[in-house]
Amino acid sequence: MNVSFTETAPKSPSLLARIVEQDKLPADLPVAIVQGAESSRFTGKTGQVFEGFVEDSGSVVRLALAGVGKTNGDTRLANLERAGAALAAKYLTSGESTLVLDLAGSGLAADEAAAVLLGLRLRSWRWDAYRTKLKEEQKRSLEEVVVAGAPEGTAAAWDEQAAVAKGVEFTRELVAEPANVIYPQSFVERCRERFEGTGAEISVLDEDEMRELGMGALLGVSQGSVRDGKLLVIKWMGGKAKDKPTVFVGKGVTFDTGGISLKPPAGMEDMKWDMGGAGAVAGAMLALAGRKAKANVIGVCGLVENMPDGNAQRPGDIVTTMSGQTVEVINTDAEGRLVLCDAITYVQREFKPKTVVDLATLTGAMMIALGMEHGGLFANSDDLADKLLAAGKQSGDKLWRFPLSPAYDKLIDSPIADMKNVGPRWGGSITAAQFLQRYVEEGVDWAHCDIAGMVWADKPGATWDKGATGFGARLIDTFVRENCE
Ligand code: BES
Ligand code: MN
Ligand code: ZN
Repeated sequence: MNVSFTETAPKSPSLLARIVEQDKLPADLPVAIVQGAESSRFTGKTGQVFEGFVEDSGSVVRLALAGVGKTNGDTRLANLERAGAALAAKYLTSGESTLVLDLAGSGLAADEAAAVLLGLRLRSWRWDAYRTKLKEEQKRSLEEVVVAGAPEGTAAAWDEQAAVAKGVEFTRELVAEPANVIYPQSFVERCRERFEGTGAEISVLDEDEMRELGMGALLGVSQGSVRDGKLLVIKWMGGKAKDKPTVFVGKGVTFDTGGISLKPPAGMEDMKWDMGGAGAVAGAMLALAGRKAKANVIGVCGLVENMPDGNAQRPGDIVTTMSGQTVEVINTDAEGRLVLCDAITYVQREFKPKTVVDLATLTGAMMIALGMEHGGLFANSDDLADKLLAAGKQSGDKLWRFPLSPAYDKLIDSPIADMKNVGPRWGGSITAAQFLQRYVEEGVDWAHCDIAGMVWADKPGATWDKGATGFGARLIDTFVRENCE
């Protein structure tokens, strides 16, 4: 969606929108609009939209009022995003191609105006690449937003937010693509294209290089697939040369059949988004590079496909991880932790970070615990946990903290190897996190975000349509902005 700025609104636009605070209809509205809004119970609640028609110099103008609600404090920017998003949802396929957003006299500050635009942009994203038979009225029509009378500084604020939007959209694209299109190699290629000219540096380890490094756990998952696994590294060194990097690691299982511990067929198609953690990391890196973040950040994606096959690993197999620890693979469907453990060891050895945060669609149990409102957070540092929780609140990618402790940890001891890859049924998300913690080295602050319930939505939400939500990209971007820059 193209956004441009102008001093004054063009004469008689086809679609004109204004942002209104709850219970405070602006005094300059035509009387028909005021009465129409009142009689249709429009009060300007967050995300509420009223549409009326007015005549202007002989032509009809579609006038939309979008409500921000009673906004003060913490929720103000999120509510402004929702107002913008509501406009996008209403007009995306309305036949209108241009929306004129009149902010003159709105009283908004530049960052508030940019929040409205971000909501508009994010909510208007869809992935229609494979829909060849859309009827005319189902096709997207809205392509352009012209902002009139924006407060000073809005264009600059929007530049930053547009970079964030690009990152979120990239995450969504990677997540929405099916597994015959996005697999380890093509994930890497899509990143190479998208990062071209951004100043971020991309490098990739192939299976031979990973074997050389001893990544037996990641390779064990990958061995049942005809597609080779990859370890993708995206570096954005926008900070001071001496600053240690912050590293984000994403689970990138481009399809998870469960392997020999095969999943049941119902809903298995969802497992195309088992690379949502990696998608979040790639999208966040694109946002950081796009807005030239003043921080050293490295994103690493462990990319594999988990397939059953004559060469697939078997339940009971024992693999040696890059850390030297051995794992008895009880269930080949608990593959995410096997991919992440080697990626986590690799980033610590290679980049000597102070902080490592991983994101993964790791356990179904997380969705049982939290539903689709929060991702689960696990951390060995209260300070890091608090910073991530705050970034979650601020970005809308919300997290909720869960415990770690030795009592949970011993549930994954194995009689034959150093550990097994699953614990008992209860507390499945916690034992998964305990497994990962066994790979965290002394002195490293580590957090794990289990985002299984968050990367895909069955119905539209605040700033997303149903489908890929882009969860995680803004979480990382906000965390970096608040703590690393
Ligand atoms: N990718 C799944 C977790 C998942 C399930 C994410 C449903 C989103 C929706 C993961 O690899 C997995 O299969 N986990 C198992 C672990 C179990 C075998 C210990 C699970 O959650 O059932
Ligand atoms: Mn699995
Ligand atoms: Zn999985």
